[in-house]
Amino acid sequence: MKTKVCLLYGGKSAEHEVSLQTAKAVTEALDLEKFDVYPVHINKEGQWIKGPKLERPAESVEDLQFSPQNQESTHPLAAFLEGGEEFDVVFPLLHGPNGEDGTVQGMLELLNIPYVGNGVLASAAGMDKVIMKHIFAEAGLAQVDYVWFMRSHWEKNQEVTYELTEKEIGYPCFVKPANLGSSVGINKCSNRDELEKAFKEAFQYDRKIIVEQGVKAREIEMGVLGNDDPKCSVPGEIVPKKEFYDYKAKYQDNSTQLIIPAEISEKVKAEMEQIAIKAFQALDCSGLVRADFFLTEDGRVLINEVNTMPGFTPVSMFPLLWKHSGLDYPQLIETLIDLAIKRHEEKQKIKYTVS
Ligand SMILES: Nc1ncnc2c1ncn2[C@@H]1O[C@H](COP(=O)(O)OP(=O)(O)O)[C@@H](O)[C@H]1O
Ligand SMILES: [Mg+2]
Repeated sequence: MKTKVCLLYGGKSAEHEVSLQTAKAVTEALDLEKFDVYPVHINKEGQWIKGPKLERPAESVEDLQFSPQNQESTHPLAAFLEGGEEFDVVFPLLHGPNGEDGTVQGMLELLNIPYVGNGVLASAAGMDKVIMKHIFAEAGLAQVDYVWFMRSHWEKNQEVTYELTEKEIGYPCFVKPANLGSSVGINKCSNRDELEKAFKEAFQYDRKIIVEQGVKAREIEMGVLGNDDPKCSVPGEIVPKKEFYDYKAKYQDNSTQLIIPAEISEKVKAEMEQIAIKAFQALDCSGLVRADFFLTEDGRVLINEVNTMPGFTPVSMFPLLWKHSGLDYPQLIETLIDLAIKRHEEKQKIKYTVS
C-alpha cells in the first residue's frame, strides 16, 4: 500500500513563490512507487485548491498552481473532506503567518490527520519572537537583551517607549514585528531618528514589536530533527554581504554565502548542540526546527531564534545541513513523514475518559 501524502503549499504570504519552489522540489524527491502525492495549492487570495493526484513530478511551478472550480471548493476543509481521499499524512510547506504559526496545524489536529513538523503550541510560540524569547529565558538560554511594546501603548505615549528602549537597550538595536519572518519589517537603528522610523514601520506589520540589543556576531545555524529524541545536524554559517541578513539577501539577490560545515571549535559546536536541543524541548517542538545562533566576537553563544518551518528548497540551509550530515533531500523528506506518523500514533495512546 502506498502512503497518501498531501502537499500543502503556496499561501497568502510573502513567501508564496518560495513555497511553490519547495513543493516542486518535494514532488521530484518523493518516490512515486512508495507515495501517492496529492497537491493542495493555497493561492495568493488564500483560497485552497486541490489538484489531481500527481502522475509524475512537477516540471514547473505552473504545474502546481490550480484555478478554483467553484467557490465552495476553495474552503480549507474542502480539500480534506471532499473527493473521498483520506490522506495518511499532510506535509505543510508553508512559511510565516497562516502556515507556520499553528493555525493550519490546529485544523489538522481537529481533522486528526498526521502532519509533518511542529504542532500547534510550538508553531505558535515559535512565530512570536516575544513569547519565544520568554520561553528561552525560562529555560536558561543566553540571548540578547530585549524589550517589547504593544501598538496601543506606543500610540498613547511614544516618547516613553523610546526612552525606555534607550535606557534598557541602547544603540545599535534591532526593531522587529513580533510575528513575522523573512526579515520583513526589521530595521537596525543607531539613533533616535532611526528608532522612530523603525517603530512606525514595524507597527504596520504587527500590533506587537520587539527591540533587541544589536550584537556584532557570526550567524551560525543548526538543523534539529526528531520527536522526543531530537538530533542535531552539522552547523552552517550564513555570511550576508550586507549590513544584515535582510529580505533581499534572503530571497532576491544571491549575495549571501552559506558555509557548511561552519568553521567553529568543537567546544562551541557542542555548546550549540546542547542549546539547540534545549530550545527544541522548551518549545515542545516535533519533527524539525532550524536553530539560529549568534556567535559573538568574544566567543559567547546566544540563541537568536528557532524556525519551526525553515526554508526547505534543496538549496536552503536546513536541507543542506542534513545533506552534509549524511541525509540527502529524499531521505530527509521520508524521515519527516515517518516522524509525523509516529507522533500521531503516540498521540492516539492518550486516554480521553476518566475512570
Ligand atoms: N539582535 C541582533 N543583533 C544583530 N543582528 C541581528 C539581530 N537581530 C537580527 N539581526 C539580523 O537580522 C536578521 C533577521 O533577524 P531575525 O530575528 O532572524 O528575523 P527573521 O525571523 O525574519 O529571520 C538576522 O539574521 C541578523 O542578520
Ligand atoms: Mg532569522
